Amino acid sequence: MDTMRWNNGCLEILDQTLLPEKIEYINCREVPTVCDAIYRLSVRGAPAIGAAAAYGLALGAREIEAANKGQFIAAVEKIATQLNATRPTAVNLKWALERMLGLLRQNNSGDVATLKELLLDEAHTIYREDLASNRRMGAYGQSLLPQKAAVLTHCNAGALATAGVGTALGVIRAARDAGKDVSVFADETRPLLQGARLTTWEMLQEKIPVTLLTDNMAGYLMARGMVDLVIVGADRIAGNGDVANKIGTYGVAVLAKEHGIPFYVAAPMSTIDFNISSGLDIPIEERDEREVTHFAGCRVAPEGVKVWNPAFDVTPARLVTAIITDRGVAYPPYSETLAALNK
Ligand code: MRU
Repeated sequence: MDTMRWNNGCLEILDQTLLPEKIEYINCREVPTVCDAIYRLSVRGAPAIGAAAAYGLALGAREIEAANKGQFIAAVEKIATQLNATRPTAVNLKWALERMLGLLRQNNSGDVATLKELLLDEAHTIYREDLASNRRMGAYGQSLLPQKAAVLTHCNAGALATAGVGTALGVIRAARDAGKDVSVFADETRPLLQGARLTTWEMLQEKIPVTLLTDNMAGYLMARGMVDLVIVGADRIAGNGDVANKIGTYGVAVLAKEHGIPFYVAAPMSTIDFNISSGLDIPIEERDEREVTHFAGCRVAPEGVKVWNPAFDVTPARLVTAIITDRGVAYPPYSETLAALNK
Protein backbone atom coordinates (compact mmCIF):
# COMPACT_ATOMS: atom_id res chain seq x y z
CA MET A 1 0.00 0.00 0.00
CA ASP A 2 1.36 3.43 -0.94
CA THR A 3 1.97 5.77 1.99
CA MET A 4 1.47 8.58 -0.51
CA ARG A 5 1.00 8.96 -4.25
CA TRP A 6 1.03 11.77 -6.75
CA ASN A 7 -2.09 11.80 -8.84
CA ASN A 8 -2.49 14.44 -11.48
CA GLY A 9 -1.53 17.48 -9.41
CA CYS A 10 -2.85 16.09 -6.14
CA LEU A 11 -0.77 14.52 -3.35
CA GLU A 12 -2.78 11.66 -1.90
CA ILE A 13 -1.65 10.77 1.62
CA LEU A 14 -2.74 7.57 3.36
CA ASP A 15 -4.33 8.73 6.62
CA GLN A 16 -2.45 6.58 9.16
CA THR A 17 -4.44 8.01 12.06
CA LEU A 18 -7.37 5.89 10.84
CA LEU A 19 -5.42 2.62 10.53
CA PRO A 20 -6.04 -0.22 10.97
CA GLU A 21 -9.81 0.30 10.84
CA LYS A 22 -10.05 2.44 7.74
CA ILE A 23 -8.02 2.90 4.60
CA GLU A 24 -8.53 6.44 3.41
CA TYR A 25 -6.39 8.89 1.49
CA ILE A 26 -6.32 12.63 2.15
CA ASN A 27 -6.34 14.67 -1.05
CA CYS A 28 -3.77 17.45 -0.66
CA ARG A 29 -4.09 20.20 -3.23
CA GLU A 30 -2.63 22.94 -1.03
CA VAL A 31 0.40 23.24 1.22
CA PRO A 32 -1.55 23.74 4.50
CA THR A 33 -3.26 20.36 3.95
CA VAL A 34 0.17 18.70 3.62
CA CYS A 35 1.45 20.53 6.73
CA ASP A 36 -1.59 19.42 8.68
CA ALA A 37 -1.20 15.80 7.53
CA ILE A 38 2.42 15.78 8.71
CA TYR A 39 1.63 17.48 12.03
CA ARG A 40 -1.32 15.17 12.79
CA LEU A 41 0.77 12.06 11.91
CA SER A 42 -1.45 11.10 8.99
CA VAL A 43 1.89 10.65 7.32
CA ARG A 44 4.65 9.80 9.78
CA GLY A 45 8.00 8.09 10.13
CA ALA A 46 11.14 10.00 9.20
CA PRO A 47 11.64 8.96 5.55
CA ALA A 48 7.92 9.25 4.73
CA ILE A 49 7.78 12.73 6.26
CA GLY A 50 10.75 13.74 4.07
CA ALA A 51 9.06 12.49 0.90
CA ALA A 52 5.73 14.14 1.84
CA ALA A 53 7.49 17.46 2.45
CA ALA A 54 9.24 17.21 -0.93
CA TYR A 55 5.90 16.62 -2.66
CA GLY A 56 4.36 19.42 -0.58
CA LEU A 57 7.01 21.83 -1.84
CA ALA A 58 6.46 20.75 -5.45
CA LEU A 59 2.72 21.15 -4.93
CA GLY A 60 3.03 24.65 -3.48
CA ALA A 61 5.51 25.71 -6.17
CA ARG A 62 2.97 24.96 -8.89
CA GLU A 63 0.71 27.73 -7.58
CA ILE A 64 3.41 30.41 -7.45
CA GLU A 65 3.09 33.25 -9.92
CA ALA A 66 6.53 34.78 -10.25
CA ALA A 67 8.01 37.12 -12.85
CA ASN A 68 11.50 35.67 -12.57
CA LYS A 69 13.64 32.98 -10.98
CA GLY A 70 14.63 35.15 -7.99
CA GLN A 71 11.01 35.83 -7.05
CA PHE A 72 10.15 32.17 -7.59
CA ILE A 73 12.93 30.89 -5.31
CA ALA A 74 11.98 33.39 -2.58
CA ALA A 75 8.37 32.14 -2.68
CA VAL A 76 9.49 28.48 -2.65
CA GLU A 77 11.73 29.18 0.37
CA LYS A 78 8.71 30.54 2.27
CA ILE A 79 6.78 27.33 1.61
CA ALA A 80 9.78 25.26 2.72
CA THR A 81 9.82 27.20 6.02
CA GLN A 82 6.15 26.36 6.59
CA LEU A 83 6.69 22.65 5.86
CA ASN A 84 9.85 22.51 7.95
CA ALA A 85 8.00 23.89 10.99
CA THR A 86 5.58 20.96 11.18
CA ARG A 87 7.80 18.49 13.07
CA PRO A 88 11.27 19.26 14.43
CA THR A 89 12.92 15.92 15.25
CA ALA A 90 12.99 13.82 12.07
CA VAL A 91 15.86 15.36 10.12
CA ASN A 92 14.68 13.78 6.85
CA LEU A 93 12.13 16.58 6.63
CA LYS A 94 14.83 19.26 6.58
CA TRP A 95 17.10 17.08 4.45
CA ALA A 96 14.46 16.67 1.72
CA LEU A 97 13.55 20.37 1.68
CA GLU A 98 17.20 21.45 1.52
CA ARG A 99 17.83 19.00 -1.30
CA MET A 100 14.91 20.48 -3.27
CA LEU A 101 16.00 24.08 -2.63
CA GLY A 102 19.63 23.26 -3.48
CA LEU A 103 18.58 21.84 -6.82
CA LEU A 104 16.56 24.93 -7.59
CA ARG A 105 19.39 27.31 -6.75
CA GLN A 106 21.94 25.35 -8.79
CA ASN A 107 19.79 25.03 -11.88
CA ASN A 108 20.66 27.35 -14.72
CA SER A 109 17.19 27.62 -16.17
CA GLY A 110 15.48 30.97 -15.72
CA ASP A 111 12.16 29.55 -16.85
CA VAL A 112 9.75 29.23 -13.93
CA ALA A 113 7.63 26.52 -15.59
CA THR A 114 10.77 24.39 -16.06
CA LEU A 115 11.75 24.90 -12.43
CA LYS A 116 8.32 23.78 -11.27
CA GLU A 117 8.69 20.54 -13.26
CA LEU A 118 12.18 20.10 -11.85
CA LEU A 119 10.84 20.22 -8.28
CA LEU A 120 8.17 17.63 -8.99
CA ASP A 121 10.71 15.34 -10.67
CA GLU A 122 12.98 15.65 -7.64
CA ALA A 123 10.13 14.76 -5.26
CA HIS A 124 9.48 11.62 -7.34
CA THR A 125 13.21 10.82 -7.18
CA ILE A 126 13.33 11.22 -3.38
CA TYR A 127 10.35 8.87 -3.10
CA ARG A 128 11.85 6.28 -5.48
CA GLU A 129 15.28 6.43 -3.88
CA ASP A 130 13.78 5.64 -0.50
CA LEU A 131 12.46 2.32 -1.79
CA ALA A 132 15.92 1.36 -3.09
CA SER A 133 17.49 2.55 0.17
CA ASN A 134 15.14 0.32 2.19
CA ARG A 135 16.12 -2.69 0.11
CA ARG A 136 19.84 -2.04 0.62
CA MET A 137 19.35 -1.66 4.38
CA GLY A 138 17.41 -4.91 4.39
CA ALA A 139 20.22 -6.74 2.62
CA TYR A 140 22.92 -5.38 4.95
CA GLY A 141 20.85 -5.80 8.09
CA GLN A 142 19.44 -9.27 7.57
CA SER A 143 22.93 -10.78 7.69
CA LEU A 144 23.08 -9.78 11.38
CA LEU A 145 20.12 -11.98 12.27
CA PRO A 146 20.59 -15.61 13.29
CA GLN A 147 18.69 -18.36 11.44
CA LYS A 148 15.97 -18.24 14.09
CA ALA A 149 15.32 -14.84 15.62
CA ALA A 150 12.74 -13.29 17.91
CA VAL A 151 12.99 -9.54 17.31
CA LEU A 152 11.58 -6.79 19.50
CA THR A 153 10.74 -3.51 17.79
CA HIS A 154 9.35 -0.21 19.03
CA CYS A 155 7.03 2.17 17.16
CA ASN A 156 6.63 1.61 13.41
CA ALA A 157 9.68 1.71 11.19
CA GLY A 158 7.99 -0.18 8.40
CA ALA A 159 6.57 0.38 4.95
CA LEU A 160 4.15 2.90 6.43
CA ALA A 161 7.05 5.02 7.69
CA THR A 162 8.83 5.04 4.33
CA ALA A 163 8.23 4.85 0.61
CA GLY A 164 9.36 1.23 0.54
CA VAL A 165 9.46 -1.81 2.81
CA GLY A 166 10.67 0.02 5.89
CA THR A 167 13.92 0.39 7.79
CA ALA A 168 13.71 -1.87 10.89
CA LEU A 169 10.82 -3.85 9.41
CA GLY A 170 12.64 -3.88 6.06
CA VAL A 171 15.47 -5.78 7.73
CA ILE A 172 12.95 -8.22 9.23
CA ARG A 173 11.27 -8.69 5.83
CA ALA A 174 14.66 -9.29 4.18
CA ALA A 175 15.61 -11.88 6.82
CA ARG A 176 12.35 -13.72 6.23
CA ASP A 177 12.92 -13.55 2.44
CA ALA A 178 16.40 -15.02 3.02
CA GLY A 179 14.73 -18.07 4.56
CA LYS A 180 15.21 -17.17 8.22
CA ASP A 181 12.67 -18.05 10.87
CA VAL A 182 11.82 -14.57 12.16
CA SER A 183 9.15 -13.55 14.63
CA VAL A 184 8.39 -10.11 15.97
CA PHE A 185 7.39 -8.63 19.32
CA ALA A 186 5.80 -5.22 18.79
CA ASP A 187 5.70 -2.68 21.62
CA GLU A 188 2.32 -0.94 21.45
CA THR A 189 4.09 2.46 21.64
CA ARG A 190 2.10 4.85 23.77
CA PRO A 191 0.75 7.42 23.38
CA LEU A 192 -0.16 7.13 19.70
CA LEU A 193 0.06 3.34 19.33
CA GLN A 194 2.13 3.10 16.17
CA GLY A 195 3.22 -0.39 17.27
CA ALA A 196 -0.25 -1.69 18.04
CA ARG A 197 -2.00 -0.06 15.10
CA LEU A 198 0.64 -0.10 12.36
CA THR A 199 3.50 -2.55 13.01
CA THR A 200 1.24 -5.48 13.87
CA TRP A 201 -0.97 -4.65 10.87
CA GLU A 202 2.02 -4.69 8.52
CA MET A 203 3.41 -7.91 9.95
CA LEU A 204 0.05 -9.69 9.81
CA GLN A 205 -0.29 -8.73 6.15
CA GLU A 206 3.21 -10.07 5.49
CA LYS A 207 2.40 -13.24 7.41
CA ILE A 208 5.39 -12.66 9.70
CA PRO A 209 4.48 -13.97 13.19
CA VAL A 210 3.90 -10.98 15.47
CA THR A 211 3.00 -10.63 19.14
CA LEU A 212 1.77 -7.35 20.60
CA LEU A 213 2.81 -6.20 24.07
CA THR A 214 2.40 -3.01 26.03
CA ASP A 215 5.52 -0.91 26.47
CA ASN A 216 6.01 -1.87 30.11
CA MET A 217 6.25 -5.60 29.29
CA ALA A 218 9.55 -5.48 27.39
CA GLY A 219 11.74 -5.95 30.50
CA TYR A 220 9.97 -9.10 31.63
CA LEU A 221 9.99 -10.44 28.07
CA MET A 222 13.77 -10.04 27.95
CA ALA A 223 14.24 -11.45 31.45
CA ARG A 224 12.36 -14.56 30.30
CA GLY A 225 14.87 -14.99 27.45
CA MET A 226 12.21 -14.49 24.79
CA VAL A 227 14.02 -11.85 22.69
CA ASP A 228 17.18 -12.42 20.61
CA LEU A 229 17.68 -8.87 19.40
CA VAL A 230 16.09 -5.43 19.12
CA ILE A 231 15.79 -3.46 15.88
CA VAL A 232 14.35 0.05 15.78
CA GLY A 233 14.33 2.93 13.32
CA ALA A 234 15.53 6.48 13.93
CA ASP A 235 14.33 10.03 13.43
CA ARG A 236 17.74 11.61 13.68
CA ILE A 237 21.18 10.24 14.44
CA ALA A 238 23.90 12.61 15.63
CA GLY A 239 27.40 12.34 14.16
CA ASN A 240 28.54 10.46 17.29
CA GLY A 241 25.85 7.78 16.90
CA ASP A 242 23.35 9.03 19.51
CA VAL A 243 19.91 8.06 18.23
CA ALA A 244 16.63 9.98 18.53
CA ASN A 245 13.66 7.69 18.02
CA LYS A 246 10.12 7.29 19.33
CA ILE A 247 9.73 7.90 23.06
CA GLY A 248 10.40 4.67 24.92
CA THR A 249 13.28 3.56 22.68
CA TYR A 250 15.86 4.62 25.28
CA GLY A 251 14.24 2.43 27.91
CA VAL A 252 14.28 -0.55 25.54
CA ALA A 253 17.99 0.06 24.84
CA VAL A 254 18.83 0.15 28.57
CA LEU A 255 16.91 -3.09 29.08
CA ALA A 256 18.67 -4.72 26.12
CA LYS A 257 22.06 -3.78 27.59
CA GLU A 258 21.10 -5.22 30.99
CA HIS A 259 20.07 -8.50 29.37
CA GLY A 260 23.01 -8.73 26.94
CA ILE A 261 20.74 -8.44 23.89
CA PRO A 262 22.02 -6.70 20.71
CA PHE A 263 20.32 -3.36 20.04
CA TYR A 264 20.34 -2.41 16.34
CA VAL A 265 19.19 0.80 14.67
CA ALA A 266 18.25 0.80 10.98
CA ALA A 267 18.21 4.16 9.19
CA PRO A 268 19.19 5.64 5.83
CA MET A 269 22.11 8.07 5.59
CA SER A 270 19.53 10.88 5.20
CA THR A 271 18.63 10.34 8.88
CA ILE A 272 22.19 11.05 10.03
CA ASP A 273 22.75 14.68 10.93
CA PHE A 274 26.47 15.33 10.62
CA ASN A 275 25.91 18.95 11.70
CA ILE A 276 25.14 17.68 15.18
CA SER A 277 27.92 16.00 17.12
CA SER A 278 25.81 14.75 20.03
CA GLY A 279 22.26 13.74 20.82
CA LEU A 280 22.00 16.66 23.25
CA ASP A 281 21.61 18.93 20.23
CA ILE A 282 18.69 17.04 18.72
CA PRO A 283 15.45 19.05 19.02
CA ILE A 284 12.80 16.91 20.67
CA GLU A 285 9.19 17.51 19.68
CA GLU A 286 6.72 17.99 22.52
CA ARG A 287 3.13 17.29 21.56
CA ASP A 288 -0.36 18.09 22.79
CA GLU A 289 -1.17 16.89 26.30
CA ARG A 290 -4.43 15.40 25.05
CA GLU A 291 -2.43 12.55 23.50
CA VAL A 292 -1.58 11.47 27.07
CA THR A 293 -4.75 12.37 28.95
CA HIS A 294 -6.92 10.54 26.42
CA PHE A 295 -6.85 6.99 25.10
CA ALA A 296 -8.75 6.21 21.90
CA GLY A 297 -10.72 9.42 22.37
CA CYS A 298 -11.66 8.73 26.03
CA ARG A 299 -10.30 10.77 28.94
CA VAL A 300 -8.15 8.58 31.19
CA ALA A 301 -6.62 11.25 33.47
CA PRO A 302 -8.26 13.92 35.65
CA GLU A 303 -8.96 17.36 34.19
CA GLY A 304 -6.22 19.84 35.01
CA VAL A 305 -3.41 17.32 35.58
CA LYS A 306 0.04 18.45 34.44
CA VAL A 307 1.31 16.49 31.46
CA TRP A 308 4.71 15.95 29.80
CA ASN A 309 4.56 14.59 26.27
CA PRO A 310 7.92 14.38 24.47
CA ALA A 311 7.43 12.43 21.24
CA PHE A 312 11.01 11.15 21.07
CA ASP A 313 13.95 10.29 23.29
CA VAL A 314 17.67 9.94 22.71
CA THR A 315 19.51 6.64 23.08
CA PRO A 316 23.21 7.22 23.71
CA ALA A 317 25.57 5.65 21.19
CA ARG A 318 27.13 3.42 23.87
CA LEU A 319 23.90 1.41 24.02
CA VAL A 320 23.74 0.86 20.25
CA THR A 321 25.35 -2.38 18.99
CA ALA A 322 25.36 -1.32 15.33
CA ILE A 323 23.70 1.13 12.94
CA ILE A 324 22.41 -0.44 9.74
CA THR A 325 22.45 2.15 6.95
CA ASP A 326 21.82 2.03 3.22
CA ARG A 327 25.60 2.19 2.72
CA GLY A 328 26.57 -0.59 5.10
CA VAL A 329 26.64 -1.41 8.81
CA ALA A 330 28.47 0.94 11.18
CA TYR A 331 29.95 -0.19 14.50
CA PRO A 332 31.41 1.95 17.31
CA PRO A 333 33.18 4.33 17.37
CA TYR A 334 30.40 5.91 15.32
CA SER A 335 32.05 9.32 14.89
CA GLU A 336 34.57 7.51 12.70
CA THR A 337 32.51 4.77 11.09
CA LEU A 338 29.50 6.94 10.17
CA ALA A 339 31.78 9.62 8.73
CA ALA A 340 33.57 6.93 6.68
CA LEU A 341 30.24 5.73 5.25
CA ASN A 342 29.39 9.31 4.31
CA LYS A 343 32.49 9.77 2.10
O1 MRU B 1 5.98 10.11 15.57
P1 MRU B 1 6.29 9.16 14.46
O2 MRU B 1 5.29 8.08 14.28
O3 MRU B 1 6.59 9.89 13.17
O4 MRU B 1 7.65 8.46 14.90
C1 MRU B 1 8.23 7.53 14.05
C2 MRU B 1 9.43 6.88 14.62
O5 MRU B 1 9.89 7.20 15.69
C3 MRU B 1 10.13 5.88 13.74
O6 MRU B 1 10.73 4.89 14.51
C4 MRU B 1 11.21 6.60 12.92
O7 MRU B 1 10.70 7.71 12.25
C5 MRU B 1 11.83 5.69 11.93
S1 MRU B 1 10.75 5.33 10.60
C6 MRU B 1 11.57 4.44 9.44
